[in-house]
Amino acid sequence: MSSSTQSISHNYFLSSVVKKQIMAVTGLLLCGFLLGHLAGNTLIIISPDAFNQYGHALVSNKPLLYTAEAGLIVLFLVHLTMAAKLTVENNTARPEKYYIKQKTGRGSTFASSTMPYTGMIILIFLVTHLINFKYGTVYMTTINGVEMRDLYKTVMEFFAQPIGAAWYAFAMVAMAIHVSHGFWSAFHSIGIFHNRYTPLLRKAGIAYAILVGAGFASLALYGYIQGVQA
Ligand code: HEM
Repeated sequence: MSSSTQSISHNYFLSSVVKKQIMAVTGLLLCGFLLGHLAGNTLIIISPDAFNQYGHALVSNKPLLYTAEAGLIVLFLVHLTMAAKLTVENNTARPEKYYIKQKTGRGSTFASSTMPYTGMIILIFLVTHLINFKYGTVYMTTINGVEMRDLYKTVMEFFAQPIGAAWYAFAMVAMAIHVSHGFWSAFHSIGIFHNRYTPLLRKAGIAYAILVGAGFASLALYGYIQGVQA
Protein backbone atom coordinates (compact mmCIF):
# COMPACT_ATOMS: atom_id res chain seq x y z
CA MET A 1 0.00 0.00 0.00
CA SER A 2 1.44 3.46 -0.94
CA SER A 3 1.94 5.98 1.87
CA SER A 4 -0.81 8.26 0.50
CA THR A 5 -3.31 5.32 0.44
CA GLN A 6 -2.24 4.43 3.96
CA SER A 7 -2.84 7.98 5.15
CA ILE A 8 -6.30 8.13 3.48
CA SER A 9 -7.17 4.81 5.17
CA HIS A 10 -5.83 6.04 8.49
CA ASN A 11 -7.74 9.36 8.34
CA TYR A 12 -10.87 7.54 7.24
CA PHE A 13 -10.59 5.10 10.11
CA LEU A 14 -9.99 7.86 12.64
CA SER A 15 -12.93 9.94 11.47
CA SER A 16 -15.16 6.85 11.46
CA VAL A 17 -14.13 6.12 15.02
CA VAL A 18 -15.01 9.67 16.08
CA LYS A 19 -18.38 9.46 14.29
CA LYS A 20 -19.08 6.14 16.01
CA GLN A 21 -18.20 7.67 19.37
CA ILE A 22 -20.53 10.62 18.79
CA MET A 23 -23.26 8.20 17.68
CA ALA A 24 -22.62 6.11 20.81
CA VAL A 25 -22.86 9.00 23.28
CA THR A 26 -25.98 10.50 21.67
CA GLY A 27 -27.54 7.01 21.44
CA LEU A 28 -26.94 6.31 25.14
CA LEU A 29 -28.42 9.69 26.11
CA LEU A 30 -31.49 8.89 23.98
CA CYS A 31 -31.72 5.52 25.78
CA GLY A 32 -31.87 7.50 29.03
CA PHE A 33 -34.69 9.65 27.66
CA LEU A 34 -36.62 6.50 26.67
CA LEU A 35 -36.45 5.13 30.23
CA GLY A 36 -37.74 8.41 31.66
CA HIS A 37 -40.48 8.63 29.03
CA LEU A 38 -41.56 5.04 29.73
CA ALA A 39 -41.63 5.67 33.49
CA GLY A 40 -43.85 8.74 32.98
CA ASN A 41 -46.13 6.95 30.53
CA THR A 42 -46.81 4.07 32.93
CA LEU A 43 -48.98 6.60 34.83
CA ILE A 44 -51.55 5.83 32.09
CA ILE A 45 -52.19 2.58 33.96
CA ILE A 46 -52.34 4.27 37.39
CA SER A 47 -55.11 6.74 36.49
CA PRO A 48 -56.14 9.31 33.84
CA ASP A 49 -55.65 12.13 36.38
CA ALA A 50 -52.14 10.96 37.33
CA PHE A 51 -51.11 10.88 33.65
CA ASN A 52 -52.69 14.25 32.85
CA GLN A 53 -51.17 15.94 35.90
CA TYR A 54 -47.77 14.55 34.95
CA GLY A 55 -48.15 15.86 31.37
CA HIS A 56 -49.30 19.22 32.70
CA ALA A 57 -46.33 19.47 35.09
CA LEU A 58 -43.95 18.78 32.18
CA VAL A 59 -45.35 21.50 29.93
CA SER A 60 -45.87 24.05 32.73
CA ASN A 61 -42.15 24.66 33.35
CA LYS A 62 -41.45 26.43 30.05
CA PRO A 63 -37.66 27.05 30.45
CA LEU A 64 -37.12 23.40 31.40
CA LEU A 65 -39.43 22.17 28.63
CA TYR A 66 -37.74 24.19 25.89
CA THR A 67 -34.25 23.21 27.12
CA ALA A 68 -35.20 19.52 27.19
CA GLU A 69 -36.85 19.74 23.76
CA ALA A 70 -33.84 21.53 22.23
CA GLY A 71 -31.53 18.93 23.78
CA LEU A 72 -33.63 16.08 22.37
CA ILE A 73 -33.72 17.60 18.88
CA VAL A 74 -29.92 18.06 18.88
CA LEU A 75 -29.39 14.48 20.12
CA PHE A 76 -31.72 13.01 17.47
CA LEU A 77 -30.25 15.09 14.64
CA VAL A 78 -26.62 14.41 15.56
CA HIS A 79 -27.29 10.67 16.07
CA LEU A 80 -29.11 10.47 12.75
CA THR A 81 -26.48 12.45 10.80
CA MET A 82 -23.61 10.32 12.12
CA ALA A 83 -25.56 7.12 11.37
CA ALA A 84 -26.35 8.26 7.81
CA LYS A 85 -22.73 9.32 7.14
CA LEU A 86 -21.32 6.04 8.48
CA THR A 87 -23.83 3.97 6.49
CA VAL A 88 -23.01 5.80 3.25
CA GLU A 89 -19.25 5.57 3.90
CA ASN A 90 -19.46 1.87 4.76
CA ASN A 91 -21.42 1.16 1.59
CA THR A 92 -19.12 3.12 -0.70
CA ALA A 93 -15.76 2.08 0.80
CA ARG A 94 -15.82 -1.71 1.02
CA PRO A 95 -12.12 -2.29 1.92
CA GLU A 96 -12.38 0.15 4.82
CA LYS A 97 -15.63 -1.42 5.97
CA TYR A 98 -13.84 -4.76 6.10
CA TYR A 99 -10.90 -3.12 7.85
CA ILE A 100 -13.11 -1.57 10.53
CA LYS A 101 -14.91 -4.87 11.13
CA GLN A 102 -11.57 -6.61 11.49
CA LYS A 103 -10.30 -3.94 13.87
CA THR A 104 -13.30 -3.86 16.15
CA GLY A 105 -13.89 -7.60 16.09
CA ARG A 106 -17.66 -7.10 16.22
CA GLY A 107 -19.44 -9.92 14.44
CA SER A 108 -22.56 -9.30 12.38
CA THR A 109 -25.94 -10.19 13.88
CA PHE A 110 -29.50 -9.64 12.64
CA ALA A 111 -29.77 -6.57 14.93
CA SER A 112 -26.42 -5.08 13.84
CA SER A 113 -26.99 -5.57 10.10
CA THR A 114 -30.51 -4.08 10.23
CA MET A 115 -29.56 -0.95 12.24
CA PRO A 116 -30.24 1.49 9.33
CA TYR A 117 -33.68 -0.07 8.68
CA THR A 118 -34.81 -0.25 12.31
CA GLY A 119 -33.46 3.31 12.69
CA MET A 120 -35.62 4.46 9.77
CA ILE A 121 -38.70 2.83 11.34
CA ILE A 122 -37.97 4.68 14.61
CA LEU A 123 -37.64 7.97 12.70
CA ILE A 124 -40.98 7.45 10.92
CA PHE A 125 -42.50 6.39 14.25
CA LEU A 126 -41.23 9.54 15.97
CA VAL A 127 -42.65 11.89 13.33
CA THR A 128 -46.08 10.22 13.40
CA HIS A 129 -45.90 9.98 17.21
CA LEU A 130 -45.48 13.73 17.60
CA ILE A 131 -48.23 14.42 15.04
CA ASN A 132 -50.63 12.05 16.84
CA PHE A 133 -49.96 13.05 20.45
CA LYS A 134 -48.02 16.27 20.95
CA TYR A 135 -49.75 18.00 18.02
CA GLY A 136 -52.82 15.71 18.09
CA THR A 137 -56.41 16.45 19.09
CA VAL A 138 -56.53 18.77 22.11
CA TYR A 139 -59.13 17.87 24.74
CA MET A 140 -59.29 19.76 28.01
CA THR A 141 -60.04 18.54 31.52
CA THR A 142 -60.13 20.13 34.98
CA ILE A 143 -58.38 18.42 37.89
CA ASN A 144 -58.54 19.95 41.40
CA GLY A 145 -59.70 23.24 39.86
CA VAL A 146 -56.79 23.39 37.37
CA GLU A 147 -57.63 23.31 33.68
CA MET A 148 -55.19 21.21 31.65
CA ARG A 149 -54.86 19.18 28.48
CA ASP A 150 -56.58 15.77 28.59
CA LEU A 151 -53.62 13.92 27.03
CA TYR A 152 -54.99 10.66 28.42
CA LYS A 153 -58.01 10.94 26.14
CA THR A 154 -55.86 11.75 23.07
CA VAL A 155 -53.61 8.75 23.76
CA MET A 156 -56.41 6.29 24.58
CA GLU A 157 -58.45 7.36 21.57
CA PHE A 158 -55.45 6.58 19.37
CA PHE A 159 -54.71 3.18 20.92
CA ALA A 160 -58.39 2.18 20.77
CA GLN A 161 -57.96 1.85 16.99
CA PRO A 162 -56.49 -1.56 16.07
CA ILE A 163 -54.23 0.03 13.45
CA GLY A 164 -52.90 2.55 15.99
CA ALA A 165 -52.06 -0.09 18.62
CA ALA A 166 -50.64 -2.50 15.99
CA TRP A 167 -48.39 0.24 14.52
CA TYR A 168 -47.01 0.99 18.00
CA ALA A 169 -46.41 -2.70 18.72
CA PHE A 170 -44.59 -3.08 15.36
CA ALA A 171 -42.48 0.06 15.87
CA MET A 172 -41.59 -1.05 19.40
CA VAL A 173 -40.29 -4.41 18.09
CA ALA A 174 -38.08 -2.46 15.64
CA MET A 175 -36.96 -0.18 18.47
CA ALA A 176 -36.14 -3.14 20.73
CA ILE A 177 -34.05 -4.75 17.96
CA HIS A 178 -32.27 -1.41 17.36
CA VAL A 179 -31.38 -0.78 21.00
CA SER A 180 -30.51 -4.44 21.71
CA HIS A 181 -27.47 -3.92 19.47
CA GLY A 182 -27.02 -0.15 19.94
CA PHE A 183 -26.82 -0.30 23.73
CA TRP A 184 -23.81 -2.58 24.16
CA SER A 185 -22.21 -1.50 20.89
CA ALA A 186 -22.17 2.11 22.17
CA PHE A 187 -20.02 1.08 25.14
CA HIS A 188 -17.70 -0.71 22.72
CA SER A 189 -17.46 2.40 20.52
CA ILE A 190 -16.46 4.62 23.42
CA GLY A 191 -13.72 2.19 24.34
CA ILE A 192 -15.38 0.15 27.08
CA PHE A 193 -14.72 -3.44 26.14
CA HIS A 194 -13.39 -6.23 28.24
CA ASN A 195 -13.58 -10.00 28.01
CA ARG A 196 -15.56 -10.13 31.23
CA TYR A 197 -17.73 -6.97 30.96
CA THR A 198 -18.65 -6.94 27.26
CA PRO A 199 -20.79 -10.15 27.55
CA LEU A 200 -22.51 -8.54 30.58
CA LEU A 201 -23.15 -5.34 28.58
CA ARG A 202 -24.61 -7.45 25.76
CA LYS A 203 -27.01 -9.04 28.26
CA ALA A 204 -27.81 -5.63 29.76
CA GLY A 205 -28.58 -4.37 26.22
CA ILE A 206 -31.01 -7.21 25.64
CA ALA A 207 -32.63 -6.66 29.06
CA TYR A 208 -32.93 -2.92 28.31
CA ALA A 209 -34.41 -3.64 24.86
CA ILE A 210 -37.02 -6.02 26.31
CA LEU A 211 -37.88 -3.51 29.06
CA VAL A 212 -38.48 -0.52 26.79
CA GLY A 213 -39.90 -2.53 23.85
CA ALA A 214 -42.34 -4.57 25.94
CA GLY A 215 -43.02 -1.61 28.25
CA PHE A 216 -44.14 0.80 25.51
CA ALA A 217 -45.91 -1.94 23.51
CA SER A 218 -47.84 -3.11 26.56
CA LEU A 219 -49.11 0.46 27.12
CA ALA A 220 -50.43 0.46 23.54
CA LEU A 221 -52.04 -2.93 24.16
CA TYR A 222 -53.51 -1.66 27.44
CA GLY A 223 -55.04 1.27 25.57
CA TYR A 224 -56.45 -1.04 22.92
CA ILE A 225 -58.02 -3.36 25.53
CA GLN A 226 -59.41 -0.46 27.57
CA GLY A 227 -60.93 1.28 24.54
CA VAL A 228 -62.09 4.89 24.66
CA GLN A 229 -63.57 5.89 28.01
CA ALA A 230 -66.60 8.14 27.97
C1 HEM B 1 -46.79 3.71 24.50
C2 HEM B 1 -45.88 4.47 23.95
C3 HEM B 1 -45.82 5.98 24.08
C4 HEM B 1 -46.74 6.87 24.60
C5 HEM B 1 -48.10 6.58 25.21
C6 HEM B 1 -46.18 8.19 24.47
C7 HEM B 1 -46.81 9.36 24.85
C8 HEM B 1 -46.39 10.63 24.54
C9 HEM B 1 -47.15 11.83 24.73
C10 HEM B 1 -48.56 11.89 25.30
C11 HEM B 1 -46.39 12.87 24.30
C12 HEM B 1 -46.79 14.38 24.28
C13 HEM B 1 -46.40 15.05 25.55
C14 HEM B 1 -46.87 16.50 25.59
O1 HEM B 1 -47.17 17.08 24.56
O2 HEM B 1 -46.94 17.03 26.68
C15 HEM B 1 -45.13 12.34 23.85
C16 HEM B 1 -44.08 13.10 23.37
C17 HEM B 1 -42.90 12.55 22.92
N1 HEM B 1 -42.56 11.22 22.80
FE1 HEM B 1 -43.72 9.67 23.36
N2 HEM B 1 -44.92 8.08 23.91
C18 HEM B 1 -44.66 6.75 23.66
C19 HEM B 1 -43.50 6.22 23.08
C20 HEM B 1 -42.44 6.97 22.64
C21 HEM B 1 -41.22 6.41 22.07
C22 HEM B 1 -40.95 4.93 21.89
C23 HEM B 1 -40.40 7.47 21.77
C24 HEM B 1 -39.04 7.47 21.13
C25 HEM B 1 -38.69 6.66 20.15
C26 HEM B 1 -41.11 8.68 22.13
C27 HEM B 1 -40.61 9.95 21.99
C28 HEM B 1 -41.30 11.12 22.29
C29 HEM B 1 -40.76 12.45 22.09
C30 HEM B 1 -39.37 12.80 21.55
C31 HEM B 1 -41.77 13.35 22.50
C32 HEM B 1 -41.71 14.89 22.47
C33 HEM B 1 -41.31 15.39 23.84
C34 HEM B 1 -41.48 16.91 23.90
O3 HEM B 1 -41.40 17.58 22.88
O4 HEM B 1 -41.70 17.41 24.98
N3 HEM B 1 -42.33 8.34 22.66
N4 HEM B 1 -45.16 10.96 24.01
